Amino acid sequence: MINDRTIEEIKNRMDIYEVVSDFVQLKKAGSSYKALSPFTDEKTPSFNVSPSKGIFKCFSTGKGGDAITFLMEMDGLTYVEALRYLADKYGVAIQEESTSQEYKDAQSERESLFIIMNFAKEHFVKNLWEVAEGRNIGLTYFKERGFSEDTIKNFDLGYSLDQWQGLIDAADSGGYNQDYLEKAGLKIVKDDKAYDRFRGRVVFPIHNITGKVIAFGARKLKDGDKKSPKYINSPETELYHKSKILYGIFQAKNEIRNLDNCYLVEGYTDVISLAQAGVKNVVASSGTALTEDQIKLIKRFTGNVTVLFDGDKAGIKASMRGIDMMLEGGLNVKSVPFPEGEDPDSYSKALGSNAFKEYLSKESKDFITFKTDVYMQDGSDPIKRADSIREIVNSIAKVPDPIRRTVYIQECSSLLKVDEQTLITELNKLILKTHREGNQVANVLKDSRIIQPSIPIPVQEKVVSIDEAIKTQERDSLRMLINYGEELVEEVTGSGVGYRLVDYFMAEIDDIDFQVPVYREILNLYRSALEKGNILSISDLVGHDDRAVSQAAVDISTERYEVSPNWNDKYEIQVSHERDTLKSSTFTNILRLKFRIVQKMINENMEKIKLAQQDSEIEECLQIQKDLKAMEMTIAQSLGNVTTK
Ligand code: UTP
Ligand code: MN
Repeated sequence: MINDRTIEEIKNRMDIYEVVSDFVQLKKAGSSYKALSPFTDEKTPSFNVSPSKGIFKCFSTGKGGDAITFLMEMDGLTYVEALRYLADKYGVAIQEESTSQEYKDAQSERESLFIIMNFAKEHFVKNLWEVAEGRNIGLTYFKERGFSEDTIKNFDLGYSLDQWQGLIDAADSGGYNQDYLEKAGLKIVKDDKAYDRFRGRVVFPIHNITGKVIAFGARKLKDGDKKSPKYINSPETELYHKSKILYGIFQAKNEIRNLDNCYLVEGYTDVISLAQAGVKNVVASSGTALTEDQIKLIKRFTGNVTVLFDGDKAGIKASMRGIDMMLEGGLNVKSVPFPEGEDPDSYSKALGSNAFKEYLSKESKDFITFKTDVYMQDGSDPIKRADSIREIVNSIAKVPDPIRRTVYIQECSSLLKVDEQTLITELNKLILKTHREGNQVANVLKDSRIIQPSIPIPVQEKVVSIDEAIKTQERDSLRMLINYGEELVEEVTGSGVGYRLVDYFMAEIDDIDFQVPVYREILNLYRSALEKGNILSISDLVGHDDRAVSQAAVDISTERYEVSPNWNDKYEIQVSHERDTLKSSTFTNILRLKFRIVQKMINENMEKIKLAQQDSEIEECLQIQKDLKAMEMTIAQSLGNVTTK
């Protein structure tokens, strides 16, 4: 187990902005940052990061928490894995609580698999550089393909010896568990015989986004060898889900974000050759059709993809399907065609680094131009031409953003010399057709892709129960406390000391207990901290052992309206200049809560009157009712004063 001191140290150093930035493109919005949620497919950003509070909040999924929670949600890491990731990122030395044997036993299966994959990677790398067979065959192969030593090291390339049990034996003498070797897909057991999956091949480790090896692809050395497949890959394991990862993403992610573009190629060797040519923002789909998860993975870093594929017909066809999927995913898609018989790997070598980079930027075409070129190659046959137009409009219909769609229609119209209105008509027909096919006629009007008359939506006045109202007010009051508890609301001029919001809050709230259990819990936490002379900070609450407390603290301190830029601006002014407003907002929120509580008491008292049997009882209730009504009036007046001020 990682000891508490280490955890403390990690928590002190971790920076939510830096951690999230490794996965999501953040844009500044007031004092916080915004982004498209990495957890959903949304079109408008609802993902919020507040560096000052050290938390993130995703409004479309409700997920939220600190940097550790983020890593767990984002990458499916366990708590311990997230801590290790952060320790690594911030250079914190991990101190274990107990002996390493106990620690080994306590590890989860996932962690064990990571360890064994790392062991295998190191074994293959060692074979390549230090074992004669590896150097003579594997290293020579890579060098003949033009990979530099730096490149080979950067991608952790290795070699599997031409033996049945090379890795199995090495794992044995290293004390590694043979079951995990099999679960990791490295060892095959058949008819009581066990042998290595990868033998006599050069090995390409596949890394997850945090740089851990989760799978391998192993290439045969002689293309003439027709019997065996060109690549043998790891099977699906607990660590490796082929459809969710892209080869090269770990090495490419920062560059993809920096350049705001991702090159997509087909093979391992394409990625490596491009990276070596200085095009580092490149990943491979590993020869299969792109999946939705892979598109989401790209979208964490950029909205722009440039597809590079082989210059043959099959390659082009394959990329067409991928392009439509990416368009549907809201990505901005471009592509670069290569001459017949060339792929990104061969062509980058043929041209050399500089000429290749120039080629990429000069020949990069948006998908309309690209598709037009491809389909117009067939000549001017009018029937084929009509087919091509339909094909292109079909792709445009997949673009979710209406503005971009309009631009594409215009572009298509001028490239193909077809009237714009004709294209729009065609587009609308297609969209209607997809709805009919999906039997979703009712949804047609809701489809933003169709130009339609605006229908006013009647706004329904929501009837809120008194308990709901109380809950809202409790929440609003608590929000002031959580966000601004330490702020001075009255200062002895220039001295930096005075009356803090928390003091003011506690005085105003009196002995009211909140109704919502988790709010009551938080209030009590503040009370007992104050008794010891402490003020709770947001991170105290967010890092609290009780999940409910931590979740509520995140939710409350990142209220939806705070995300709006106006609110941020407004708040910034309040916080930094207008402490009066802070005080009166707190006062108002608590007063509104009291108002609702009194109303609830009135309702309850009314029920009592209805049920009362004896005169004396009724008498008593009526007196209470009078007092409560008077109180309600006083508060209402006071609220009127406050709110109209
Ligand atoms: P390619 O045949 O283009 O391989 O397949 P490549 O990586 O470019 O290799 P070289 O340059 O010919 O040596 C593209 C991708 O398809 C997957 C691999 O991920 C490969 O990188 N593939 C291909 C397999 O998984 N198995 C195969 O047998 C062939
Ligand atoms: Mn290839």
